[in-house]
Amino acid sequence: MSIALGIESSCDDCSVSIVRESGEVLFLTQKNQDQFHKKFGGIVPELASRQHENVIFSLIDQALKVVSLSDIDCIAVTNRPGLLGSLLVGCVTAKTLSLSWNKALVGVNHIEAHIFSSLLFNKAKQKKISIKWPVLAFVVSGGHSSLFYVEDIGKAFLLAETRDDSAGEAFDKFARLLGFDWPGGPQLDKIAQNSQHRQHFFSEIKTDDLSFSFSGIKSQGQRLLDKKSKAWLEQNKTDVCADYQEKIVNHLMTKLDQAFEKNPVKQVLIGGGVSANSLFRKRLKKWSQKKSVSCHLPELEFCIDNGAMIAWTGLQYFLRGQTDGLSLKTSPRHLDNDFFKRLSY
Ligand code: KG4
Ligand code: ZN
Repeated sequence: MSIALGIESSCDDCSVSIVRESGEVLFLTQKNQDQFHKKFGGIVPELASRQHENVIFSLIDQALKVVSLSDIDCIAVTNRPGLLGSLLVGCVTAKTLSLSWNKALVGVNHIEAHIFSSLLFNKAKQKKISIKWPVLAFVVSGGHSSLFYVEDIGKAFLLAETRDDSAGEAFDKFARLLGFDWPGGPQLDKIAQNSQHRQHFFSEIKTDDLSFSFSGIKSQGQRLLDKKSKAWLEQNKTDVCADYQEKIVNHLMTKLDQAFEKNPVKQVLIGGGVSANSLFRKRLKKWSQKKSVSCHLPELEFCIDNGAMIAWTGLQYFLRGQTDGLSLKTSPRHLDNDFFKRLSY
């Protein structure tokens, strides 16, 4: 069975992983930069790339303690989309390793990798899933909220994306106004779990097609905090968080349901940092039972950016004979001829 070494450095998480083609993760390490960027309230791209450079080789050294070099069949690296400086650190490292170890190199689209993160498992969990193409895929992250109809590796149709902010940004920006450290999505989720949710402050998010929109709820959040005193906020924080979270999750579920009605499939794959949200996970489980569709969520450690999803996705291209040479390009955006085509209704 083939094995890949995966490198992820597209944003602020530097991660290296070793994964088998079955999805079994033999090794995963990551170094996040949250502590480093929190004083700026967001990621500073130039500083992010320097942080990657500082840690990437020590992460690779750790990986090589788990497998021997001769067991690795290919090196997979995120080469798009993301912060250019951060991507370059991963890509130059991967090219160097590919050349000096004489291993195949595969550039991976970060969003396509998120799509398949629910297939990853640790040995103890023994959770192998086989894909029943075509599937619906929903990537909800800090940079993207996108629905895809996926026919195969490298062959997807984009059904919907956001008109403005992503769901993760909506969480993080409001959480910042509430005084949480960046990224505030997980903290907002935690606070909301203490709420009985007896009060409503925000209206439901509506769009007239499959697309997402989160700028309206973000403005509603800003207006609410402008109007209310600090003391009021302290007393009502849990309900405010719960209602804000619920309106975001309602919107995500409504669009997923609409996409599913138009494209009935047997399997739905969920991915991206926001798939760690506790309410979203609960609602997805209920929805999948109601619709009798199998809906796969990543284990919590594979929701956020990680090298394992890059390794697995890169390995699928390697197994199909689609590898890249040292001329592999790095791009902050998707490529013109990327893994998906745009499809609009
Ligand atoms: O996929 P990811 O690690 O990075 C991108 O590719 O963007 O996603 C990070 C995003 C952040 O916005 C973070 O606040 C959000 O995922 N996130 C959450 C939760 N855990 C992570 N949002 C809401 N609830 C959570 N539990
Ligand atoms: Zn991501």
